[in-house]
Amino acid sequence: MKNLIVIDNPLIKRDITYLRDEETKQYQFRLAVNRIAYILAAEVSKNFELIETPVKTPLETTIGYKIEKGVVLVPILRAGLSLVEAFLEMIPYAKVGHIGLRRDEKTFQPIDYYYKAPNNLGAYTVIILDPMLATGGSASVAAEFLKGKGAKEIIMANLIAAPEGVSHMEHDHPDIKIYTAQLDRGLNENAYIVPGLGDAGDRTFGTI
Ligand code: PRP
Ligand code: URA
Repeated sequence: MKNLIVIDNPLIKRDITYLRDEETKQYQFRLAVNRIAYILAAEVSKNFELIETPVKTPLETTIGYKIEKGVVLVPILRAGLSLVEAFLEMIPYAKVGHIGLRRDEKTFQPIDYYYKAPNNLGAYTVIILDPMLATGGSASVAAEFLKGKGAKEIIMANLIAAPEGVSHMEHDHPDIKIYTAQLDRGLNENAYIVPGLGDAGDRTFGTI
């Protein structure tokens, strides 16, 4: 799993425990997702290149920095929306595209229902946001869409990944780095991540 970066952080381990716990209330679930998303954003941003720019303090002029490339965040609807707020706080100038995908309950294949993103994706660092990387079908289709629209530099950020999903992505998109807060054991017979946290969309939006 050469493209996978699992973030090692005690706050993440505590918050993943809240997310796993079936007793965790919806508002606590969303708060924990948000906290992890800040750390994910900080880790993903290590890929950003800087350019030097002079900055005048009250005392003298010194060297400052700007992020060279623009950023487009692309949450995969619905559950990916839960990561957007924290990423936007950390990267306020980012644009946001959306990809609507839902998994067919029997075949587990992703079905697309929405796409909207800025033109000229090749000029941006594109960050796909989705809390769950299970079979990897949704992430792979999303990356394919974005490459079809010109994206050249894509990074993926998620909360929990299964080895199957990581392998799927590495096979289809060896150029994409995957940042995750947790690598879990695998998938069950319904292609849910185990031990996992259940259905991320339902737990985020209270549609259980
Ligand atoms: C979930 C999740 C991912 C996908 C992961 O979405 O948010 O998009 O499943 O599964 P995969 O790796 O096997 O493709 P879901 O289809 O449940 O839709 P939702 O976000 O609208 O609940
Ligand atoms: N989608 C989810 O929300 N959870 C899983 O475990 C797998 C796919």
